[in-house]
Amino acid sequence: MRRPAEAGAAIPVLSGNATIALRCVAACIVGMAVTFSTAIQAGVPPATQYLIHCSGCHRADGSGSLRGGIPDLRGYVGSFGRVDNGRTYLMHVPGVVGSGLDNADIAAVMNYIFERWADAPASDPVPLFTAAEVAQLRKRSVPDVVKARRRVVHELKARDLPVAAYPWE
Ligand code: HEC
Repeated sequence: MRRPAEAGAAIPVLSGNATIALRCVAACIVGMAVTFSTAIQAGVPPATQYLIHCSGCHRADGSGSLRGGIPDLRGYVGSFGRVDNGRTYLMHVPGVVGSGLDNADIAAVMNYIFERWADAPASDPVPLFTAAEVAQLRKRSVPDVVKARRRVVHELKARDLPVAAYPWE
């Protein structure tokens, strides 16, 4: 009969070099995964980015939830795109800040929202975002987004631009 100590010794133990080699392989796999996910991320169409990052709150159809404090985008979101403070506000809403998207992807998903829900006449389209504008507006400090929205809404109403209902107005 084999004694337990012998059985233990029979388990192959990796040498120091083999362990280092395994770590290198693991690091390489992680590296490749990061590279691939970045590459895939860069090619994601804005409609898919919307579904992944935004529709959980705003819903696939942009209707949001008044009770949940998620404003309806349909027919309203374009108003924010027409004034400088509104464009700044859009770049600081929590869903955009927390999305982890880069400036180009933020511009693309916001332009997708404008094109889908701004309901702007063809003769007076909402100006689209560029990555450069996104970068610039994100540098501005907007410590309180609810207050910022209130200020913008005031400005939009004064110009007769439509604004979605919002519980913290
Ligand atoms: C966790 C929920 C959540 C997610 C996810 C989310 N949002 Fe929002 N969004 C809100 C809330 C809540 C507001 C209203 C502003 C506030 O109270 O912070 C808002 C406001 C907005 C507004 C302005 C509408 C208005 O009337 O004020 C836009 C545009 C917007 N979000 C776009 C996006 C985009 C684009 C994404 C995805 C990249 C996104 N949101 C993801 C919750 C979310």
